[in-house]
Amino acid sequence: MLNQIIEIVKKAGEIYRSAGDDLGICEKSSSVDLVTKYDKKIQDFLYTELKKVLPDAQLFGEEGDGNKELTDGYCFIIDPIDGTTNFIKGFQHSAISVGLAKDKELIIGVVLDPDLNNLYYAEKGKGAFLNGKPIHVSDCNIEKSLVLFGTCPYEHELAHKTFKLTEDVFYKAIEVRRGGSAALDICYIAAGKADLYYELIIRPWDWAGATLILHEAGGICTQVNGDELSLNKITSYVCGNEKNLKEFYEIYNAQ
Ligand code: IPD
Ligand code: CA
Ligand code: CA
Ligand code: CA
Repeated sequence: MLNQIIEIVKKAGEIYRSAGDDLGICEKSSSVDLVTKYDKKIQDFLYTELKKVLPDAQLFGEEGDGNKELTDGYCFIIDPIDGTTNFIKGFQHSAISVGLAKDKELIIGVVLDPDLNNLYYAEKGKGAFLNGKPIHVSDCNIEKSLVLFGTCPYEHELAHKTFKLTEDVFYKAIEVRRGGSAALDICYIAAGKADLYYELIIRPWDWAGATLILHEAGGICTQVNGDELSLNKITSYVCGNEKNLKEFYEIYNAQ
């Protein structure tokens, strides 16, 4: 099944790369919450093709038309383009993300960076891979960490809190980055390209696919206060390794 999903996600990457000048940009909840016709096109393609792999599976994607929440059985959790603003601007840092859950537990994760053609994937219990090579999280403490963070552009109060927290993190870590794709941020932690990532509000489709990859790469993730995550809830998110997460919780609790 993993290979079938990988092939489908690779084809979705071709749709992403076929985008011309007319992206068909529309506003959703506000002028900074954007969607393009490619988000919808890729989601429709994934829904149709993934349904052929598992006809009974539910479909739970960012751009609607599927299930509104997870129930038992199989469920695909899909972000057709994670990093829509980057896609619109040609910033070339976005992801196509598919997670498969069974009875609300992630069993497969596939995340494609279609600009660099980097494919991250994992199957429960079988390790995590980037383009066929095994990946692992780093073991850096915060002092040696490159830290990634996200901020939802239309949640200003939380953005303010995030920037305050990030100032404190910045002085303790090597450096901080805001890339604009939560799925890629988490995959970068899984691959040891960066060491810690957090965001104060995130939706399940942003993290589902990448989180199985992170787990299989030896990483840990929780809400920022240390509570467990749930695929049915909008929550905060932090991931890293045992050492830098412990130090992150201390910084967060001192806010
Ligand atoms: C967004 C990206 C961004 C994160 C936002 C998400 P979208 O997803 O993952 O990095 O900071 O919270 O909403 O809307 O581009 O799929
Ligand atoms: Ca969006
Ligand atoms: Ca997203
Ligand atoms: Ca999206």
